[in-house]
Amino acid sequence: MKGIVLAGGTGSRMHPMTRVVSKQLLPVYDKPLVYYPLTTLMLAGIRDILVITTPREQALFRELLGDGGDWGIRIEYAAQPKPEGIAQSFLIGRDFVAGDHVTLILGDNLFYGDAIGGMLKRAGEVATGATVFAYAVSDPERYGVVAFEPDGRPKAIVEKPKVAPSVFAVTGLYVYDGEVCDIAAILKPSARGELEITDLNNVYLARGTLRVEKLGRGFAWLDTGTPESLVQAADFVATIESRQGFKIGAPEEVAWRMGYIDTAQLGRLAERMKNSSYGRYLARLPTME
Ligand code: G1P
Repeated sequence: MKGIVLAGGTGSRMHPMTRVVSKQLLPVYDKPLVYYPLTTLMLAGIRDILVITTPREQALFRELLGDGGDWGIRIEYAAQPKPEGIAQSFLIGRDFVAGDHVTLILGDNLFYGDAIGGMLKRAGEVATGATVFAYAVSDPERYGVVAFEPDGRPKAIVEKPKVAPSVFAVTGLYVYDGEVCDIAAILKPSARGELEITDLNNVYLARGTLRVEKLGRGFAWLDTGTPESLVQAADFVATIESRQGFKIGAPEEVAWRMGYIDTAQLGRLAERMKNSSYGRYLARLPTME
């Protein structure tokens, strides 16, 4: 299973905050936003990851994440010259995907819940088709929304509907079989000039191979598309972290817990950041259980 983090986009809805730095590099409480989607992939056992950025910001992502070696994973980079849609990830990432199953996660989506890794892993083990994850929200019109048949099967996904057919938004986490790059190649740009992920998902749906898994109320799905939602995400992370004493979205910790790195390597990574509470947390981890 391969993984893609899409961290392109101009961030225009967040200007001036994002005029010179990508949204996905902004902090959500105590770490850069991109750490959260990256660790979601790592928790699913995905260790081959392509990070797609704007051409201008690629160097910054490289500086932050490196080649993944420190965390026992492999990170490659590719550029999306213009924000021409989420589904373009599969044209840009075609060689990287190389016909494997692939999980795509949007670089500004934050998932929380200890079952998420297992759910993703199981979705990846299904031989053919695609899996999307739906989450009940109070403002579904802002998203792709699932319309259901009376028997509960998905009927269609509607992108940013005026009147939402359900409260179930499609989250920015998608698992596909090896055909996804071929399907992305036949999509036409939408009215907003983008290759829509919703169009791609509707191709799978028309073929009868799209699964919609609902993430229940025990999960949190937060997006960070507006200044308000960015603050809410930071508050959420701060609240859980201070209550539990564990961090959300720390790649070093996930790598260590998943067995991608050993305790000695965790110690080396902690040492580099020993002046921060984050580094001290990493150093403490082996003694915390
Ligand atoms: C995109 C997708 C939408 C999905 C959302 C999740 O929206 O088009 O279907 O529900 O991500 O974050 P956009 O970020 O383009 O508004």
